[in-house]
Amino acid sequence: MRRSCFPKCRLMRLLGLLQIVLGGLVIIVSISSLFRFYSAGFFLHNEDICRHFYGVKDVYEGFDIKALSTRVEEVLNKMESLQDKLEATVQKLEKNKDLIDRTNISKSEYKKFLEEEVIRPLYSAHIALRQIRLPKIEGIRNMTVKEEPLINTFVIEEIRKYITPKENRVGKINIYGTERIYNTIGHACVLMKKELEEYMDYDIGSYCKDDWNLAQKLMINGCDPLPRRRCLTRASKLYQKPYAINESLWKLPDGRNVRWSNYQCRNFECLSSKNPKRGYSKCTGCFEMEKEKLKWVINGTLPIDFMIKDVLAIKPGEIRIGLDFGVGTGTFAARMREQNVTIISTALNLGAPFNEMIALRGLIPLYVTLNQRLPFFDNTLDLIHTTGFMDGWLDLQLMDFILFDWDRILRPGGLLWIDRFFCNRKDLDDYMYMFLQFRYKKHKWSISPKSKDEVFLSALLEKPPRSL
Ligand SMILES: *[C@@H]1O[C@H](CO)[C@@H](O)[C@H](O)[C@H]1NC(C)=O
Ligand SMILES: *[C@@H]1O[C@H](CO)[C@@H](O)[C@H](O)[C@H]1NC(C)=O
Ligand SMILES: *[C@@H]1O[C@H](CO)[C@@H](O)[C@H](O)[C@H]1NC(C)=O
Ligand SMILES: *[C@@H]1O[C@H](CO)[C@@H](O)[C@H](O)[C@H]1NC(C)=O
Ligand SMILES: *[C@@H]1O[C@H](CO)[C@@H](O)[C@H](O)[C@H]1NC(C)=O
Repeated sequence: MRRSCFPKCRLMRLLGLLQIVLGGLVIIVSISSLFRFYSAGFFLHNEDICRHFYGVKDVYEGFDIKALSTRVEEVLNKMESLQDKLEATVQKLEKNKDLIDRTNISKSEYKKFLEEEVIRPLYSAHIALRQIRLPKIEGIRNMTVKEEPLINTFVIEEIRKYITPKENRVGKINIYGTERIYNTIGHACVLMKKELEEYMDYDIGSYCKDDWNLAQKLMINGCDPLPRRRCLTRASKLYQKPYAINESLWKLPDGRNVRWSNYQCRNFECLSSKNPKRGYSKCTGCFEMEKEKLKWVINGTLPIDFMIKDVLAIKPGEIRIGLDFGVGTGTFAARMREQNVTIISTALNLGAPFNEMIALRGLIPLYVTLNQRLPFFDNTLDLIHTTGFMDGWLDLQLMDFILFDWDRILRPGGLLWIDRFFCNRKDLDDYMYMFLQFRYKKHKWSISPKSKDEVFLSALLEKPPRSL
């Protein structure tokens, strides 16, 4: 019996040995994990990330310890299940001793077993551990070491590279007064991992996919600002030089200058409000120049429409630069340009090429969402104009944050022109309170009914000096 069992016993002994080795590994991993636990960054890999990331309150010094422990736990579970499996196999071998005695296990079978059942899971556990990017630890007791906490959330190397802080080349403080540049991405990117990975999945130096709409979706959903990419943006095959500025302001641009593949229309004429298949619903009619030419220059049908010349007359020569926050094709900026006022127009491509339209008219589109603090310094702009965008759908607290940001960038004596804001009649008091809380000087203030339940509000307000 003993003799005939010899080769099988060797196998079992081998497996037993493996078991001991693996057991040891598990212990080592647990100890090293625990050791690093309190001084390390974290790693996230599986789909539970976001919940962990956001469900956690006990973030210590920029590290999400709970997420790290989850990650380590995952690896430990993997190793544990590997060990269980091996143990079960050994037990099975023990039971079928006689069977094994009669049928030799071939070397190729043995090899296959090792490869599939042992090496592969070990390898994946190893890789999972490797992917944990731990901060450099100078002294175990120094807990102030900071590491970008988002890095370990992503597996795509390009994202990891992008968000790893970049040291200044000459080792000095840079123009911002920091030692490195921290490329950031919006935290909500964590919630859109799949889309972001799709967005960053490209060959460096080659052409990007025609995926601006994916990028915009990410932005709108809070993954904003987006990472830069190292691929080449496609342009229209038939790109023509834009019209000269003496023509471009009031002429529908050449449709060949736009990539239309992500729109329902294939040219600017198709975007007319008369076309039911135009594919967008915000700012209908904005692509019809005859209609646009009437805005802010002739007496409107409603008493809430102020005219540009009346507004500028309040501060003759003082209004030079400003922001038009809304959805539009740049007509406000075009009119103001004729008055020698430079206006930057915010635009998102919501179903139509608003950005391209504004740029082709020779005006400046600013591709931003509401998610961000505006990229202007405090007390700098002469005018903020808003229309067709800020409506009663805005959350009051969100609106409050936005208005404070606008207040921040307006210069003392700057004008806030709220143009055709509309909301439910019963909410009017709340919004009025918001607009008036800043104690701006009221130059114009006009309310008029829009429908049975809704009202329009237009206002022209001036920021006080606030010299403190
Ligand atoms: C098992 O393999 C050994 C050599 O490794 C051989 O001598 C023996 O005959 C084999 N037994 C069976 C049942 O194939
Ligand atoms: C921890 O590290 C920071 C920055 O490297 C350093 O300023 C600080 O003095 C260190 N603290 C201790 C207790 O070593
Ligand atoms: C625009 O300016 C160019 C020269 O700069 C001129 O040739 C052209 O006729 C002008 N177009 C219009 C519509 O005024
Ligand atoms: C616009 O309407 C106002 C009164 O509503 C009037 O005083 C003004 O003359 C009108 N201007 C034009 C150009 O029609
Ligand atoms: C704008 O500037 C130009 C050149 O400086 C000047 O000729 C023109 O009269 C100005 N327009 C207005 C409306 O001030």
